[in-house]
Amino acid sequence: MERKVYFDNAATTPMRKEVIDSMHKVLLETFGNPSSTHSFGRSAKTQIETARKSISKHFNSDPQEIIFTSGGTESDNMLLRCAVQDLGVQTVITSKIEHHAILHAVDFLAENKLANVLYVKTDSEGLIDFGDLEHLLKVDRTKKLVSLMHINNEIGTILDLDRVSKLCQDNDALFHTDAVQGVGHYAIDLNQLKIDFLSAAAHKFHGPKGVGFSFVRKNSGLNPFILGGSQERGLRAGTESVHNIVGMAKALEIAYSRIDEEQKYLKDLKTYAIEQFTKSFPEIHFNGCCSDLDRSSCTLVNVSLPVPEDKANLLNFHLDLKGIACSKGSACQSGSTKGSHVIEEVVPLSHKNNPAIRFSFSIFNTKMEIDYLIQTLESFVKE
Ligand SMILES: Cc1ncc(COP(=O)(O)O)c(C=O)c1O
Repeated sequence: MERKVYFDNAATTPMRKEVIDSMHKVLLETFGNPSSTHSFGRSAKTQIETARKSISKHFNSDPQEIIFTSGGTESDNMLLRCAVQDLGVQTVITSKIEHHAILHAVDFLAENKLANVLYVKTDSEGLIDFGDLEHLLKVDRTKKLVSLMHINNEIGTILDLDRVSKLCQDNDALFHTDAVQGVGHYAIDLNQLKIDFLSAAAHKFHGPKGVGFSFVRKNSGLNPFILGGSQERGLRAGTESVHNIVGMAKALEIAYSRIDEEQKYLKDLKTYAIEQFTKSFPEIHFNGCCSDLDRSSCTLVNVSLPVPEDKANLLNFHLDLKGIACSKGSACQSGSTKGSHVIEEVVPLSHKNNPAIRFSFSIFNTKMEIDYLIQTLESFVKE
């Protein structure tokens, strides 16, 4: 039988069985429209509000501050566009290594002269230059929004949310974080951190696709991004996807109840992967700071592999043939001939010709799968 190994968990994760069961139950039993006032509707509404309460508890936030959306892209677009339209933000500060959901949204704002966009400097590890951020925050007196991702989806660099949020607060700027890769994997206390807006997507933490949430700090003054009915307290119109919302709450409940043991498992797995890569390919380059477990996510490694040029283009194809799923950059770019904008920013010139590959892990991966990956890579390079 063909062997299948899934190392593309930063693109999406498999759902946990308990999550599927919870959704199955809703699909079978709770089909009412949550806006209907009869018992079918009320029961769907109850499921949504129970999910909202449960989700908000993990972040030490208020249930009212959780707005359900279709996922990370919608949350990012909504929060950036509404902050500019509704809160008088004139300058958005972001970085060049954000996800396209942010980069294309700020391009739209700049092209339509809705906001001025400034990019904070980042270094070869994917860390932001705090001196530059402070400088940009003080550059003029316009109202500012800082949008920086919690965990980089390609290289795994972790942002110091506390330090950025304090800097924003000291300079009277709003702070949005795209936490799509962090939520469910790392604890985020929104009562402690001075974050105004946050984006999350369920499919990155073993929940369903097509659902996520925006955290919108109470009394922020945002108006709806999608117009229509009065769902989500008027902030996001459209009949709620009840089964998806319940599945997301279940996925998050499990993720946070097991966070210590699962982080430990993933750190151990990642350490093993780094050791094996280094042993077999001493010339390997770990992109960003992904070989440092304190400063990068335990869920991924991104490596530039020392592969002869004639073979480099065939590498992904070969891994796929051997049943190994991984990613060249972020999944949204696969099929595109353009290289990754993040890799372009962080990889040193000496490794620019080597193929960069992201292997992203979940608790369903094992060390045996890593052994299989290394053997497959070794035989491909030597062949
Ligand atoms: C950091 C980051 N932001 C946003 C998104 C988009 O999320 P979604 O696929 O839920 O629209 C992704 C998905 O890859 C991501 O990794």
